[in-house]
Amino acid sequence: MTPETYRLLHVVGVLLVFLGLGGVLATAGGEGGRSPKLFLMLHGIGLLVMLVCGIGYVHKARLEWQNWLFAKIACWVLIGAIPFLVRRGVVPRVVAVVLVLGLGATAAWLARDKPF
Ligand code: HEM
Repeated sequence: MTPETYRLLHVVGVLLVFLGLGGVLATAGGEGGRSPKLFLMLHGIGLLVMLVCGIGYVHKARLEWQNWLFAKIACWVLIGAIPFLVRRGVVPRVVAVVLVLGLGATAAWLARDKPF
């Protein structure tokens, strides 16, 4: 696969994650406790696609492992933990929405500006 294909698939992974998060945040902690499997799966599969294709792009485009990439991985870990944190009541739903948007925007900015 070309580097550009990896980058495109990375963005498709981002879309899957945020689609899944929408469903998870709308339902987590509700009547049945757990969110519908579809949304949890979208979130999980998206996280995997995003990570594999992000790292794939780094290799194919011969990028250096600079700190902005590690910061993106930190954003990825936090976004991955959100459904669990909301279900456990550690993070209220509204806070989670703001947090998810902030982390997503930060990760996109890191990719564009590569500040460090
Ligand atoms: C919170 C999670 C993340 C979000 C929301 C996110 C989002 C984005 C977006 C919007 C782009 C720009 C795509 C484009 O210009 O075509 C991008 C590029 C990229 N992302 Fe991520 N990303 C995330 C996590 C990661 C992770 C975990 C890695 C793995 C190492 C990664 C590696 C990259 C790379 C290498 C690029 C290309 C940068 C370039 O064009 O030079 N991202 N990401």
